[in-house]
Amino acid sequence: MANNWKRRTSEEIREIVRKALDQNVDFREGKFLGVPASHLDENVFYSDAPFLRDAPYMSTMVSNPNNIGCHTMGESESFFEGTQNIERELIKICAEDILKGKEDEQDGYVASGGTEANVQAAWIYRNLFIKEHGAQHNEIGLLCSADTHYAVYKAVNLLNIKIYTVPVDDETRKIKPSELDRVLKEAQNEGIQNFVVFANMATTMFGSVDEVNPYVQALKKHNFRYKIHADGAFGGFIYPFSASASELTFQNPEITSFTLDAHKMVQAPYGTGIFLIRKGYMDYAVTEEAKYVQGQDITLIGSRSGANAVAVWMILSNYGPYGWKERIHTLLYRTNILCQKLDEYGITYYRHPDLNIVTMHAGQFPVEMAKEFNLVPDNHHNPKWFKIVVMTHVSLDVLMEFTEAVKSNVKT
Ligand SMILES: Cc1ncc(COP(=O)(O)O)c(C=O)c1O
Repeated sequence: MANNWKRRTSEEIREIVRKALDQNVDFREGKFLGVPASHLDENVFYSDAPFLRDAPYMSTMVSNPNNIGCHTMGESESFFEGTQNIERELIKICAEDILKGKEDEQDGYVASGGTEANVQAAWIYRNLFIKEHGAQHNEIGLLCSADTHYAVYKAVNLLNIKIYTVPVDDETRKIKPSELDRVLKEAQNEGIQNFVVFANMATTMFGSVDEVNPYVQALKKHNFRYKIHADGAFGGFIYPFSASASELTFQNPEITSFTLDAHKMVQAPYGTGIFLIRKGYMDYAVTEEAKYVQGQDITLIGSRSGANAVAVWMILSNYGPYGWKERIHTLLYRTNILCQKLDEYGITYYRHPDLNIVTMHAGQFPVEMAKEFNLVPDNHHNPKWFKIVVMTHVSLDVLMEFTEAVKSNVKT
């Protein structure tokens, strides 16, 4: 097992971040005439405020490092070496300690969010099919379940490829094998030979987890070329800790890349999507024209704050792997209690046993109740489902208040 992820005291965390900032350029000292960047405006952001000494994330924000590029391969901009090192360690934690990748065999970077990380994956595979196999755009498709996040629709629109969605069973949320077969035949008839496949490590609305094997078997049967990306934007920081055996790791040779999103379950600031991919693939997204960037830019985003990597690294280091597992299990415990109560009151719902999302069929309690507790519907015009996501702010007290309201209002 990898051993990059360590629990650290807040003093250790402060010290490591302070040293990282010392390794970065200090725009106030030295001659950085050509760099179109600086620290944050001192008239607004008070770079000498005394509290910053004890606030590593805030002080990184104020010093404003640009972690542009991908730092797990080749050279990088020398100005921000300290915060790039922190990002490198964070990527290793995610790829090796959480997703069981082999040592130094994955690349990755902190993206703007799950959407960007997903588009980055599709972009890389589309370019691979074009470059290595001479594919035309109309010979490349994106295959995913009907429950997949709408980011894939942005991806296919931007990349000029076609999407093929596979219907899922209404109760199990699993893709229907017969439908998969039908969709693949349709794609074949339309000239598709290559597929970017998205497997969900927890869908947004249901928390359902896709099985990879049905995709693999069907794609092989129909002789498609394919690359599989696992979208763990929601479940990537939960499922690897809750599932007794997960096939959604780098140990599964069928999966080439992952999205994780620290600005969901990790409670990191927005701007902390994480893109991870096996070595040898990032170059398919190289922009040759990015000549002024040291080490070139093979990410979609371009300039991005080094403070984001620092924030995620700080949170994970604060808990360590065991503390994190404990935290996830607290949320699952609350979810279990919620489900017990719903069972007691005869409310029907979908819940994956290793996830903290409970999605109830609409029509079982008044819509006003859904509004009062801010449940999220599958669509706002004609809701069929309402979901509860058990995050840290969703305490047992509030959940019990909800189930009591259900008990008094349940429609039979
Ligand atoms: C499974 C999944 N993928 C992708 C995304 C998009 O993430 P972001 O909003 O960070 O771009 C989300 C957001 O809810 C998601 O749940």
